[in-house]
Formats: sequence, C-alpha cells, structure tokens
Amino acid sequence: MMNKISLFALLLLTGCYYDNEATLYPESANCTPLTTSTFSGNVLPLLNNRCNNCHGGNSPSAGIALNTHTAVMKYVNDGSLMGSINFSSGYSAMPKNSGKMSACDIQKIQAWIDAGALNN
Ligand code: HEC
Repeated sequence: MMNKISLFALLLLTGCYYDNEATLYPESANCTPLTTSTFSGNVLPLLNNRCNNCHGGNSPSAGIALNTHTAVMKYVNDGSLMGSINFSSGYSAMPKNSGKMSACDIQKIQAWIDAGALNN
C-alpha cells in the first residue's frame, strides 16, 4: 500500500505536469463543438500560441508566415499545414522541437478547414 509521503510526491509530480500542460496548451481543456470553429476565435489563437514564435513577425522561419488568414491559406491549400501538425510522413513535424498539438486542438483546425477555411 502506498504511504502518505509517496502519495504526496505523486500528487506534486502530476500537479506539476498539469500546470505545464495548461501553460503550453491552454485550449486543450476546452473542446467546444467543432462546427463552431473559426479562424479568429480558434485557429489563429492556436497558431499564435504554438507556431508564431517562429512563423510570425517580419522574418518568419523558412519564409512561412502563419499570422494572417491569407498567409495560412497557402499551407491549407498545399496540405502542409495539416500534414505538419499531424506529424504525417513527408512533412516536417510541427511545432518544431516541441510536443504535438492536442487532438482537440488539431480537430478544431481540421473542422475550420472542413467548413471551408473561411476568414471568420
Ligand atoms: C521552433 C520554431 C518553429 C515552430 C514553433 C514551428 N515551426 Fe514550422 N517550421 C520551422 C522551420 C525551421 C521550418 C522549415 C523546415 C524544417 O526545418 O523543419 C518549418 C516548416 C513548416 C512548414 C512546412 C513543412 C513542410 O513539410 O513543408 C509548415 C506547414 C509549418 N512549419 C507549420 C508550422 C505550424 C502549423 C506550427 C505550429 C503548430 C509550426 N510550424 C511551429 C520552425 C518552426
């Protein structure tokens, strides 16, 4: 049977894990109905949070900007946005050198694309 000290240590460890996840993936706790996914409300905040430290600003990594609807559409249309986010073979896994986006967050981006990838 687990004693109180090791239980406490376990709680500390898991508490720490959840703190980090909440910081890294603030959207993941809130998987709202996917039909309501919009560019400004869902997609851009996720890109800003996970991608645009590299793909934003005046000189984005690899010349790939992901900070406006027009810019993002190029990578929606050529398949590399979802290919990279899904870690699909043939694409560079994104976010680079970081954890995969949560399944819920990936679904939000996919739902926005499935609904026509509108500038909404
Ligand atoms: C740490 C910096 C960094 C982060 C964070 C990052 N990228 Fe990238 N991204 C790069 C670099 C550098 C490349 C050029 C290819 C390579 O080096 O892997 C790239 C390439 C890409 C490509 C082209 C991939 C291909 O195979 O054609 C896409 C699309 C992309 N990134 C999207 C994203 C998305 C979406 C996110 C967030 C989920 C993201 N990136 C996060 C640095 C980053």
